[in-house]
Amino acid sequence: MCDAITESDKLKLIEFISSTDRYTCGEKVEEFERAWSDWLKCNYSLFVTSGSTANSLLISSVKELYKIPDGSKVLVPACTWVTNVSPVFQNNLEPVFCDINLNDYSFDLDNLPDDDIRIVFVTHLLGLNAPIEALKEKYPNAIFLEDICESHGVTDKRGNRRGGGTGSTFSFYFGHHMTTIEGGMVCTNNKELYELMRLKRSHGMARHLLPENYDDVIAKYPNINPKFLFLTDGYNFRNTEINAVLGIEQLKRLDENIRVRRKNYVHYMVRLNRMRDIFHVPKYDEFNSSFTLPFVCKTRENRDIFIKIVEDLGIEYRPIVAGNLLIHPFLEKWKDSVKTPNATILNDYGAYVGNHQSVTTDAIDALFDRIECDMKGIEPTRKINDKTAVVIGSSGQDGSYMVEMLLEKGYDVHEINRTGLIQTLTKNGEPRIHVRRLDGHRGDVCDLASLVTILKKIRPCELYNLSAYRGHVESSFESPVESSEVNGMGALNVLEAIRLTDQTKTCRVFQASSSEIFGKAAETPQTETTPLNPDSPYGFAKAMAYHATKVYREKYGMFASSGIMYNHESPLRDESFVTRKITKAVVDIKNCKLDCLYLGNLDAMRDWGHARDYCECAWRMLQANDPGDFVISTGKLHSVRDLVSKAFKYVGIDVVFEGFGIDEVAREVATNKIVVRVYQRYFREDMGYQLVGDSSKAREQLGWEPTATFDEIIEEMIDRDQMVRE
Ligand SMILES: Cc1ncc(COP(=O)(O)O)c(C=O)c1O
Repeated sequence: MCDAITESDKLKLIEFISSTDRYTCGEKVEEFERAWSDWLKCNYSLFVTSGSTANSLLISSVKELYKIPDGSKVLVPACTWVTNVSPVFQNNLEPVFCDINLNDYSFDLDNLPDDDIRIVFVTHLLGLNAPIEALKEKYPNAIFLEDICESHGVTDKRGNRRGGGTGSTFSFYFGHHMTTIEGGMVCTNNKELYELMRLKRSHGMARHLLPENYDDVIAKYPNINPKFLFLTDGYNFRNTEINAVLGIEQLKRLDENIRVRRKNYVHYMVRLNRMRDIFHVPKYDEFNSSFTLPFVCKTRENRDIFIKIVEDLGIEYRPIVAGNLLIHPFLEKWKDSVKTPNATILNDYGAYVGNHQSVTTDAIDALFDRIECDMKGIEPTRKINDKTAVVIGSSGQDGSYMVEMLLEKGYDVHEINRTGLIQTLTKNGEPRIHVRRLDGHRGDVCDLASLVTILKKIRPCELYNLSAYRGHVESSFESPVESSEVNGMGALNVLEAIRLTDQTKTCRVFQASSSEIFGKAAETPQTETTPLNPDSPYGFAKAMAYHATKVYREKYGMFASSGIMYNHESPLRDESFVTRKITKAVVDIKNCKLDCLYLGNLDAMRDWGHARDYCECAWRMLQANDPGDFVISTGKLHSVRDLVSKAFKYVGIDVVFEGFGIDEVAREVATNKIVVRVYQRYFREDMGYQLVGDSSKAREQLGWEPTATFDEIIEEMIDRDQMVRE
């Protein structure tokens, strides 16, 4: 519903506001009224401040015009909105309540009162079609008024829009078929009634008479200035030009909104029909114009389950309009005037969820799947909120650890990668035991359509976006666009795919961020509050992903978290990374397959952790109570020189370092052979700042800490390199 007022509506408002200084009821209001009358095919419309004031204006004007005596009876339903009933007694008329029926939530035709009813105030509730034709047969002498506040576009059986009779009202409150934020319309085919309502809508002034009557009327009061000549009591229910501009824009989309809501409603009816044992199913009517999807259970127990389900899924719900109005204190006087068993059912066992133009049939399916599962034990064909996870970028180092960890934790895991193939072997090269719980999908973060198609089918409860630009931070300068597409737009595509498939409330998202977003770091160590200051295309694209994740979390209430990951290594690390390059070369030198290793700056310092530990942290982030951003780091810095010595030592080679800068070398103590040299092309001057993370937040809030030490990471990598060599 957040997109009810579109960007183009906002632009129109800005354009209008900056083009004029007149905002009070004027030309735009008249333009909107004319457009509305054309749409409804009625003679006259008046734009007012709300559906409620439209009701008040209509009732008081009808009473005055038709000279209806105080105490005359007005038929009203026991379930409707309060402002359908209150203007009746506020105007000294007597409401006669009637129970509703469970087919269309309008008057119960079997229990209509035989009183002398002067006005029938019908409500088309929730977009359902009230049986006006049958009511007219019962009360042929009554005046019929229609409250269509929440049912714009409901039609009679010939397809004519309802609302063109003596009087009808509409609300444009936010969430209705179209909105002017607050606003309403009162419509009539009766010119005299229209004129009276024009007067009452303002302060009862002669100024608002129809032009053809104006001169004759003011001539009767020569002693009163016609500018302020008051002919009747007024309310000032006028709306503004600004709201009218919005109304004109929104009206252009009204038919499409009604179409989408109808389509959703048909889908809802199909699914609801299968559950007649659990729900009271309203009558299907192709002429309705759905406002919401009502769920009226047959037992309180099921109603409680239903409420729990929607709360779990983060779906807003409401009682069915005002429930049974007769139990409310403001109607105390009429509480025993009639029996209302059906309104009591709506009140006690009913609730509705919104059917907005932004709701999709997929979202409706997801809700019904869950209802069928929880109430009837039917396993959903599509899964939500169970242990199903998606790993994007599953063929990389992190993806591989993540898939394995999730399988071990009992998840069904879906890999999304460019080949669509699953990893049948574990990272140690052994066949996976959980392979039956693993599925593969061909997809790409740069291809939104592929993500939407896959996610629509899987509906996971967790998604890990571990995809990243394949190159290095340095090489991202050579392909900045590609690195931005994968690291930045890719993350946005993932978030969008979740939003477009209506999974913002059901799928938790981990976005792999990077310490590179801190770039030339403003402080050391960095925390979640350190300002972002990327200094490479790799970093600025990751920064975009980080911001996008935060915006989707705040705007759409998504459980979306960024893990700001510092360097993390493992035996699966690609050889082009310095850690793996060193461990592999050390093993080769040990096995006399290589003489010398060429490196860049040996003084370069890094905060190195183990990929397995970092995946564990990612998983914990999605199990937390709240989403957020977390630094994932060891907090310990080691130099490349340190890494080199430890690696050689582990294979039984002692080395000593000599010289400085690009002339520095490492010699094997036993043979005096140079085994490491600095290669000018790789050499980068000290950056003057250190990327080292303070992961206190993850440690305190997630109970996480890295388990592998620096030495253990190197040893594990060397063991693997040695094994491969053998
Ligand atoms: C049936 C009905 N009548 C009247 C109203 C009042 O409209 P508003 O909120 O614009 O005052 C509503 C509000 O949704 C309604 O549903």
